[in-house]
Amino acid sequence: MGNKKKVIENLSKKKTQIKSKKKSGQLVKQEKISSKKIFKISLIILFALIVLVLLFCVISYNLINKKIYDTIVSSNEEIVNVHYKYNKLILWNKTIEYIKNNKKKIYICKDNYSYLLDNEKIEKNIHFKASIQNNFRNLDGFSDYSNVYISINKGSDSVKAISIPLDRSSFSNEYVDIYTYSNNNYTIYQSAEKINSDKVEIELLNKEYNHFLVVYIPVNRIDISSKEFNIKRGMTEEVSIKVMPENATNRTLYFESSDENIAKLSGNSINAISAGQATINVRIYNEDMAESISVNVLEILNDIKLNRTNATLYVGGSVTITATLVPDNAVNKDLEWISSDESIATVENGKITAKKLGKCNIKVKNTSEPIIERDITVNVVKKPSFPSPGQGAQNANLTYINGILVVNKKYSVPSTYSPGINPTAYNAYIALKNAASAAGFSMPLISGYRSYQTQTNLYNNYVAQYGESIANTFSAKPGHSEHQTGLAFDVGSIDNNYGNTSAGIWLAQNAHKFGFIIRYPKGKESITGYQYEPWHIRYLGTSVATDIYNKGVCLEEYLGI
Ligand code: DAL
Ligand code: ZN
Repeated sequence: MGNKKKVIENLSKKKTQIKSKKKSGQLVKQEKISSKKIFKISLIILFALIVLVLLFCVISYNLINKKIYDTIVSSNEEIVNVHYKYNKLILWNKTIEYIKNNKKKIYICKDNYSYLLDNEKIEKNIHFKASIQNNFRNLDGFSDYSNVYISINKGSDSVKAISIPLDRSSFSNEYVDIYTYSNNNYTIYQSAEKINSDKVEIELLNKEYNHFLVVYIPVNRIDISSKEFNIKRGMTEEVSIKVMPENATNRTLYFESSDENIAKLSGNSINAISAGQATINVRIYNEDMAESISVNVLEILNDIKLNRTNATLYVGGSVTITATLVPDNAVNKDLEWISSDESIATVENGKITAKKLGKCNIKVKNTSEPIIERDITVNVVKKPSFPSPGQGAQNANLTYINGILVVNKKYSVPSTYSPGINPTAYNAYIALKNAASAAGFSMPLISGYRSYQTQTNLYNNYVAQYGESIANTFSAKPGHSEHQTGLAFDVGSIDNNYGNTSAGIWLAQNAHKFGFIIRYPKGKESITGYQYEPWHIRYLGTSVATDIYNKGVCLEEYLGI
């Protein structure tokens, strides 16, 4: 039994050994299986996580971009504030395209600062470089200034201050003042010019300060003492221009005239250069602010031209001096006439009247600056006694007085008198015409010799057109026209204003040198019986013509008839 038991025990031991051996083999197998599973599951989880992260990124990216895109697209403003809280942003291409293709400017805002995206420099990745939150200081000390742009930083050997415009769209190429902040006091430290983009670096020279403010005080207006000027040509006027507030950072003014040939501003003086209208724009460098000054430059008198500068008169006689003011659009054209001796000759509006024998001077000048003066020498002489008409007659049918053939309202020539054009007078006219041409004036012969018949036709036409009394003021009756003598010519232009033109003035001032007089002068209408005819010249020879010119008389007065 005992052995059996042992055998059995041994057997059962063996069994158990075998069993346990069997069991341990299964365990190894089982362990191998579970670690493989875990690895697989981990892989799956990892993959799922990656997918989730990617999904999250894609969704966030698209959501953020959609939000930004929608904000930009739906905004009517030119400048759009896009609030965003990350320091790095990746934009959709279509957002970038939209910003670039539209006139919008984009501010990315974050907490206490905002960052203007420079449209030219927008890239797909946008980094927010600046943060001032930790260094932000109370700006009460600057409460006067509506726009204060600050940046503060500190360092050991050098300070890098990053300036950020808090509510300003652009901060490039500006001027800034850098203040130190210590014991609640702001002290100017240095000024910096041409700040590049949003960043200014300042060197810390004095380590005692550890806070810096970069302050830009913008200009809020330009005060100009007057915005409208009327200035005479050649003159200058002062204008006061003040940039406000007085402590504005950037106070550099520059001026731009719409026409520098008319007016320009240098320093505080407006220079009126030539007549016309100009606008001077006053700007502050790099500030979106401008004012304009309107300048009207007024033309001034250059010259007073007189049709004569001397006159010889008989007592009681008179002559009217014509003053031509150059240029015509001058503003200071009011004239005054002054006689040096009113007992000899008086003058009123250019009409000189002789009072008694003697010499005096007549002055004509304009009344407002700049003043131009001209003088006329007046000589009042005794009236010469000419022979009476009857005595002077050399031909029963023609009236010669003092050797001069007289044809006027009173004295006529017979219908049969047809001498044709007088060759001496005609040659004199040619000389006159050539001299006029050399002076720049054309002096055509419009009407020369007219026969009795031609004058009859002319006169009758005028009577039919205007009636006899009006016709008689400018057209001679047949037999009474000087044109029938061949000694009178109509030259230049048959125009009532001809006497005021430079050609007409030249003729009046030079005809005598060629032997002619203006036969029907202005102011002598009641004596000649005809209206002023600045074009009708009568040949008398240079001696008589010059004498008549100098005396300022008409032929009838000269001959005393
Ligand atoms: N026109 C001048 C007066 C003439 O007819 O003779
Ligand atoms: Zn005539």
